[in-house]
Amino acid sequence: MFQSFMSLLSPSNGSNATWREDIARELLTSTSCNLVLVARRKDRLQSFAAEHSSGLRAVEVVSMDLAQEGAARELYNILAAADLAEKIDVLVLNAGAAISGSFVEADMDALTASMHLNMVSPMQLARLIGQDMKVRNQLEPVHAVRGFEQKGHIVVVSSIASASPGVPHVAVYAASKAFLTSLGCALHQELASAGVCVTVSMPGATATEFSSVLGEEAALIFRIPPMVSQSRQVAHETVLAMLRRDSEHIIGPINWLYTAVGPLLPDSVVRHVGELAFRPPSHAQELFARVVQLAMSPAAITA
Ligand SMILES: NC(=O)c1ccc[n+]([C@@H]2O[C@H](COP(=O)([O-])OP(=O)(O)OC[C@H]3O[C@@H](n4cnc5c(N)ncnc54)[C@H](OP(=O)(O)O)[C@@H]3O)[C@@H](O)[C@H]2O)c1
Repeated sequence: MFQSFMSLLSPSNGSNATWREDIARELLTSTSCNLVLVARRKDRLQSFAAEHSSGLRAVEVVSMDLAQEGAARELYNILAAADLAEKIDVLVLNAGAAISGSFVEADMDALTASMHLNMVSPMQLARLIGQDMKVRNQLEPVHAVRGFEQKGHIVVVSSIASASPGVPHVAVYAASKAFLTSLGCALHQELASAGVCVTVSMPGATATEFSSVLGEEAALIFRIPPMVSQSRQVAHETVLAMLRRDSEHIIGPINWLYTAVGPLLPDSVVRHVGELAFRPPSHAQELFARVVQLAMSPAAITA
């Protein structure tokens, strides 16, 4: 059986690797998957494919901008024409990007494109390929008892930003990840009876190109080494969560603590902490003072 994995990958050099490269490697070593990789930069896709293809394993690449309207359907049609769409066992919805800064001053087209990339394309791909997985499980029920490789898996890469009651200055990004987390957790339950397992991965700050794509001067959180996960660790934990068939997995103890303590605190405090993390260090002093003031003034918390 041809087994494949779709992700959005851009191999990069050195320690600042994007973690989809690591998640692809992780799947290459822990499963017998062939790969279909999707991203915009074709040269990087091709060099990764050249490095990892072998007689036993196929690595296909598709260069596409998933922030464009209709991209998911176009990608699905490309996969179907290559007789791949119905063979996908593991779908990793990983592409995502954040735009930071003032919401009202942001480029509206860029914000809308980011919603396509973070929400619409993943939702549509989950719908199109999830249906194929369900139909295949109905036609080939024998596969259901052989273990995960014969069943469908959908991995949704969200963020711990989705656990906050809004994150100022990355408002659209955090809202789009809240959508993804909600969607993925709902689908975990809805698709279980069809033999399709959906796992939501929730990383916090991770050393990738993401922080430079953020646009502003690097966000404070990326300047605090203990707060920044390594992409290989994130990929490893994500694949393990998928193999365990978890509904959601928060990466690392610090992020777990954030999501556990957050609901116990007033929303305004959590929002300020989120903003503090995502703003450049030049804003840190002022924001930190506001967090302390809020924490010490119950009246201000409800404001
Ligand atoms: N890094 C973090 O701190 C962090 C934290 C929490 C969650 N996450 C989430 O983790 C996921 C992976 O992020 P990352 O850290 O690996 O980011 P990254 O290093 O910026 O990588 C983004 C990847 O997505 C691809 N991509 C970006 N825009 C695309 C588009 N319009 N169409 C197709 N592909 C596109 C990029 O390849 P091309 O540029 O070649 O298209 C690249 O491979 C994202 O969903 C992100 O929201 C990251």
